[in-house]
Amino acid sequence: MQFYLLRTDEGSRRSVSFEGDALESMYTKQSDLLIAFIILNKLIKIWGGLTMPGRNFLHIPGPTIVPQRIRNAMAIEQEDMRAADFPEFTLPLFNDLKKIFQTETGRIFIFPASGTGGWEAGITNILSPGDKVLMSHFGQFSWLWVEMCQRHGLDVNALEIEWGEGIPIDRYAEILKADTGKRIKAVFATHNETATGVKSDIAAIRKAMDDAEHPALLFVDAVSSLASLDFRMDEWGVDVCVSGSQKGFMLPTGLAIVGISEKALAMRETAKLPRTFFSFDDMIAANDNGYFPYTPNTIYLRGLRESVNMLLEEGLDNVFARHTRMATAVRKAVEAWGLSLIAKEEKWYSDTVSAIRTPDGVDGNEVARHCYKYYNVALSISLGKIAGQAFRIGHLGDLNEVMVLTPLNGAEMSMKDLGMDIELGSGIAAAQEYLRNTRQARIQAGGA
Ligand SMILES: Cc1ncc(COP(=O)(O)O)c(C=O)c1O
Repeated sequence: MQFYLLRTDEGSRRSVSFEGDALESMYTKQSDLLIAFIILNKLIKIWGGLTMPGRNFLHIPGPTIVPQRIRNAMAIEQEDMRAADFPEFTLPLFNDLKKIFQTETGRIFIFPASGTGGWEAGITNILSPGDKVLMSHFGQFSWLWVEMCQRHGLDVNALEIEWGEGIPIDRYAEILKADTGKRIKAVFATHNETATGVKSDIAAIRKAMDDAEHPALLFVDAVSSLASLDFRMDEWGVDVCVSGSQKGFMLPTGLAIVGISEKALAMRETAKLPRTFFSFDDMIAANDNGYFPYTPNTIYLRGLRESVNMLLEEGLDNVFARHTRMATAVRKAVEAWGLSLIAKEEKWYSDTVSAIRTPDGVDGNEVARHCYKYYNVALSISLGKIAGQAFRIGHLGDLNEVMVLTPLNGAEMSMKDLGMDIELGSGIAAAQEYLRNTRQARIQAGGA
């Protein structure tokens, strides 16, 4: 195979062959074709209304909007990850990340991966083939986690839960009590199922484990909850907490950020699943001195530093309260539209993502596609078992009152365009009313 670089120089087209073949005329023809293709493509886009002035608004449940402060922090030169002063940057970062996980005794790992890599890191360092684990699946992501455990040869008891519901605490409690031989090695819980907008009660799972005096480890997927929803690693006795950079941390995708308890860390001595890239041992050996076992993504680490600064400056309690407010505004709009959420009960409503059910005969994914195409607002499609039955709005990360009205605005117009019985302005007005009232209450209480 040969590779060619085609370029236009001073008005004349030249081809440059890396292997030296003189095929000038052939490549001149090819470049003509290429230019014709590009022009045609542009025209099709303009005719199709895809080229729009203004910016695209991203309101999917991750990746989320990267705030300017973080973008500035990342607009830097590469740096020497073995420099003598690098640990002065990394060691405080690891320390401050513990505050986000609300852990004093846990250890934080940062892998250059997405959340899925964080899952794999937790499983492979701590468990062994044949280990019995208790899981449940009620959405695309909890299902993929089950699949990963199965692929690693674990003995998986996966409870199949209806989509729209969360983790069944009573069934977990029964199973744990019945396991008198304490054969279950780990209990898995997806804190926030992003596909359905369902949040589960991790504190209640810990209580069920303690009531059963069960020594299993508690693995929690907090990919779409950490840094947005209250998450208490130490208080809830979480042994493995997996998160990713592209949601509450407001960064691009690319870091798996994982919290591990002392108890879980000790298991790596006996865990038999193979690991290399995700080895905790290798990470610990290097991290203890402020370095990494392979080339770290230093620009992302600088961005993460800024993200942690922003979260701590706002204060975690304020971050959580803001997410609850934004989510409630979205839910007010959904109610005003006469629609419902995929999440079946209030106790399961997620404060980071809402999956909004569309009526029979209206493809929810078409609402998202229409909104993207005609209004330049990215809502999220629905996945897996509920594909087409809903569209999703991500309301997490760097978000304020006016920003959260944007996806509501786009959704409202799109639903109307698609023939749904929606009164224009109804959802927006309900959300505005709620946001104004709660803003005034906060101001009266001396808040910002
Ligand atoms: C709850 C949850 N878990 C896991 C993942 C997988 O993370 P990633 O896509 O970063 O690998 C996602 C992704 O959206 C998620 O929402």
